[in-house]
Amino acid sequence: MAREKWGTKLGFMLAAMGSAVGLGNIWRFSFVAGNNGGGAFLILYLLFVILIAVPLLLTEVSIGRKAQSDVVGSYKKLAPGTPWFLTGFFGVFSAFLILGFYSVVAGWSMFYFWNYITGSFAAQPEAGYGEAFGAFTSHSWQPLFWVALFMTLTIIIVVSGVKKGIESANKIFMPVLAIILIVLAFYSVSFEGASEGLRFLFSPDWSAFSDPSIYIAALGQAFFSLSLGMGAMLTYGSYLSKEHKLPGATMGIGLMDSFFAIISGIVIFPAVFAFGIDPASGPPLVFITLPTIFEQMPLGGFVGLVFFFALVLAALSSSVSILEVPTAYFMRVFNWPRQFTSVVMGAIMFCLGIIVSLGFGIWSGVTPIGDLGILDSMDYVASNILLPLGGLTMALFVGWYFTKQQALEATDFTGSSIGQVWYLIIKFLAPVLIVLIFLNALGFI
Ligand code: PHE
Ligand code: NA
Repeated sequence: MAREKWGTKLGFMLAAMGSAVGLGNIWRFSFVAGNNGGGAFLILYLLFVILIAVPLLLTEVSIGRKAQSDVVGSYKKLAPGTPWFLTGFFGVFSAFLILGFYSVVAGWSMFYFWNYITGSFAAQPEAGYGEAFGAFTSHSWQPLFWVALFMTLTIIIVVSGVKKGIESANKIFMPVLAIILIVLAFYSVSFEGASEGLRFLFSPDWSAFSDPSIYIAALGQAFFSLSLGMGAMLTYGSYLSKEHKLPGATMGIGLMDSFFAIISGIVIFPAVFAFGIDPASGPPLVFITLPTIFEQMPLGGFVGLVFFFALVLAALSSSVSILEVPTAYFMRVFNWPRQFTSVVMGAIMFCLGIIVSLGFGIWSGVTPIGDLGILDSMDYVASNILLPLGGLTMALFVGWYFTKQQALEATDFTGSSIGQVWYLIIKFLAPVLIVLIFLNALGFI
């Protein structure tokens, strides 16, 4: 079977941006920033995006494009007879963990979209949006219905080939999401008491830097948000032909993704402070804050509808890139057809989704790691540990297994002076920083 190819470089760009921009920018960015003190977290996050994540994004895409294979197969092909391919299994494993909880949050978003269609969220329910969220997420089967629906849509797109479904939807709805967020940002900063939220996000509390957990949180967010370290971008890169240049494309993806994160911060935090919501509310944060903003706005019911529709599409264009990782791997290894493979993989992820969803209902007391619930525990392992580990091995692979000439050629950096900087980063700086952050989180430094 011939492997798929992107139609054009723009097709790859749209798919990669679609993968990057998603619930991570709005839902995850807001609650992780809220949990980690706001401003100090934002500085570290942006620093890690520039110093580690964007250079690694280029590295990851280039591995896939050079090898033209999935996350395990690429290492086998480029480093035959070595154990490097074992690191690819981290990626396949992370994909299950991540889509396991991503599909649950996407299901919540679909439920919200539905409530704006029916109009029942246009005005605050009697007990408030926080209560409404709690009642829904702890319901015995309702959230599962939406997870199932979301996984079904994800599978349909992956079956029909990533190319067709994703390219066209992203071209329209990413700009729509961006425009709504910009409008919401202006609206949000006009609330009385909004300035406290801006201060929370932009003026760091310097004492927060002494807390080791914010470094790993910022690192994990940088990886999660750029879809980095599990092979999603590698797999997308593998559908790219050699004639397309990579450095500019990866810079663009990094910029776009950070823009979406910062703008959602400007939407969420002023409103959080204006309405007296706790910034450290965790995963429910945006699901309580956003409807509160829409309720205050003229035409808010309609804005909410369009917003959640765009958010669901953004989540879909990310979830397909996650499902694509194990699908590409199992298709090749067992020679299964794409359809069968993606249904099986999607079904396994749905089962994980059930577990995550029950963590907000009958299993709300289950805390696998420390005091973290099921979703937070899976997210912690995947985003803060497995993704950075995956990124670390990619950096070491291209920095130390490739020759310098091979590395520069793989990234279209031959003869470029920025290429020299990139090479120093992935050979030394990024691996050292990741290891230091790990040691720091473990309490060794
Ligand atoms: N980057 C996506 C988001 O921000 C999530 C994602 C993580 C996608 C890992 C692929 C791989 O929503
Ligand atoms: Na993102």
